[in-house]
Amino acid sequence: CGIVGYIGTRRCIPVLMEGLKRLEYRGYDSAGIAWLEDDEISLVKAKGKLLALDRKLDGVRDTKSFVGLGHTRWATHGEPSEDNAHPHMDCKRQLVVVHNGIIENYYSLKKQLEKEGHNFLSDTDTEVLAHLIEKYLNGDILAAVKRALQDVEGAYALGVLWKGQPDTIVAARKQSPLVLGITEDEAFMASDIPALLPYTNNLIFIDDYEVAVLKKGDLLIYDLREDKIVDKTPQEIKWDASMAEKAGYKHFMLKEIYEQPQAILNTLRGRVLPEEGEVIFEESGITQDLIKKTKMVNLVACGTSWHAGLVAKYWIEKWVRIPVQVDLASEFRYRDLLVDDSWLTIPISQSGETADTLAGLRIAKDHGSTVISICNVVGSTITRESDGTIYTHAGPEIGVASTKAFTSQLAALYLLGLFMAKARGTLDQKAIKEKIDVMLEVPGLIEEELKAWHNRAKDLSCEFSQYPNFLYLGRGLHFPVALEGALKLKEISYIHAEGYAAGEMKHGPIALIDKNMPVVCLAPQDHVYEKLLSNIEEVRSRRGIVISLGEKGDEKLKKLSKELIEVPKVDDRDVNPFLYTIPLQLLAYEIAVQRGCDVDQPRNLAKSVTVE
Ligand code: G6P
Repeated sequence: CGIVGYIGTRRCIPVLMEGLKRLEYRGYDSAGIAWLEDDEISLVKAKGKLLALDRKLDGVRDTKSFVGLGHTRWATHGEPSEDNAHPHMDCKRQLVVVHNGIIENYYSLKKQLEKEGHNFLSDTDTEVLAHLIEKYLNGDILAAVKRALQDVEGAYALGVLWKGQPDTIVAARKQSPLVLGITEDEAFMASDIPALLPYTNNLIFIDDYEVAVLKKGDLLIYDLREDKIVDKTPQEIKWDASMAEKAGYKHFMLKEIYEQPQAILNTLRGRVLPEEGEVIFEESGITQDLIKKTKMVNLVACGTSWHAGLVAKYWIEKWVRIPVQVDLASEFRYRDLLVDDSWLTIPISQSGETADTLAGLRIAKDHGSTVISICNVVGSTITRESDGTIYTHAGPEIGVASTKAFTSQLAALYLLGLFMAKARGTLDQKAIKEKIDVMLEVPGLIEEELKAWHNRAKDLSCEFSQYPNFLYLGRGLHFPVALEGALKLKEISYIHAEGYAAGEMKHGPIALIDKNMPVVCLAPQDHVYEKLLSNIEEVRSRRGIVISLGEKGDEKLKKLSKELIEVPKVDDRDVNPFLYTIPLQLLAYEIAVQRGCDVDQPRNLAKSVTVE
């Protein structure tokens, strides 16, 4: 979910709506806003996308109200409906609450409050907060929120507005992201940075167990546990508002696919000394000593970020000769772990807020592991809790399906692998220099190919958009790329797609192959090329439709394939994951467009999953 709050000198409804628009990727099954005018709270909510809410605001958009809250929802408790949409109110309609997170003990709290005479209108866990705060309200909204939160178990980022103190919004956070902004005569709150960028770049990140009081041009933050004021300095965020807009592209996803050369370059920038054959990570907390004492590299992530980790395993084990474990954060966090202080844990996360990854980070730390994260969002929770962070500098990613964040994670991990190889002496300077050189060519190569890949994807989408299933096959470095290609397709086109290690095909998926099964085969001329060609033969002999990705001029592959997407041949195929991923992103994108799907906001998904 995404929450926003505003108090200041502008009419609040447009400010709240603008903020919600920029947070819609966080959830979009319903939305609502509340504002205060002449000591009365007004509430408008709508099921469905923000557009539905926007339509309902006709006639009230210019209301002279200067304080309000907004919410865009991704359902956890209670189906998407108008009743369940936020904001929620108390019985006397004197206060409103917006909330992102899950109140775990909501059921017992609700039963108790019902006994005490509170009447509930929704099935949400959030409404409990409104009633609980009402219960403790005795002339001071801050005191009531603080008291109510003592009863609450679970995760929250919340905003509260009470008509008795119209000059105040109270915000609080535990385990769900919350960022505040302040100008001379305004104060803002939001779940994520893009919502605030049109107004200010000076942002304050709230930590767990902190409560903030927002007034016009004024901000006070308290530590909930110690009941004292916390001093926080705003951080300047270097993104500008236009970076979070579509810039003429039909979808954010397409814009972000096209931004990849720049995003990768930004991740490399300032971190390589090509002449010296050296990688430097000045700001990250990564040191040669740390790498020398590391006995196990532990990559923990979810979704697309997990795929980046899988690619990195091949790189690091090959270059650094150190074991690498790649874990899904949701599995890692509940396993009996062997982690100790000889391990280096690397959480990988675009948002820096994914609940499972954050939990994994904390557990690894508890076991004594050093934690260096790879993350795109400056100041996010994962970065704050890590011992150091390598930022990906990809700029804001809005499309729910991750694209440029993935390739810039790869770039960061590639550099990290080389840094480790240097520290442990497993690659000599010449080899590192060559790897840096080939990496530096990648953004230019992508730039040159993007248009051709895109045209190819458009052609193929006409032919293939109506198939119900797809299989993606790859070996080695291209196996995680196959997983990522399949994930992209299923996320945005709702076509069932599976990525498989090509050698595993015979152990199951081969049973699915017939004339209705397109099989996307990643077949560069690497050390497992011949093996992959054999897999293609196996697909062909079962009449599967072979769509290959292979090197330019590979006539053999062309003959074996119904369709071939050409990828440039590079001197060192270790950079292939960059080059083979992007045509697959474009293929998924064009197929989804062809099917009329909502590319940037696919059903049931959210960009940043801050609940478990
Ligand atoms: C969600 C998004 C994915 C993303 C995953 C992990 O599922 O839809 O695109 O890969 O979360 O997110 P993170 O921000 O931790 O990389």
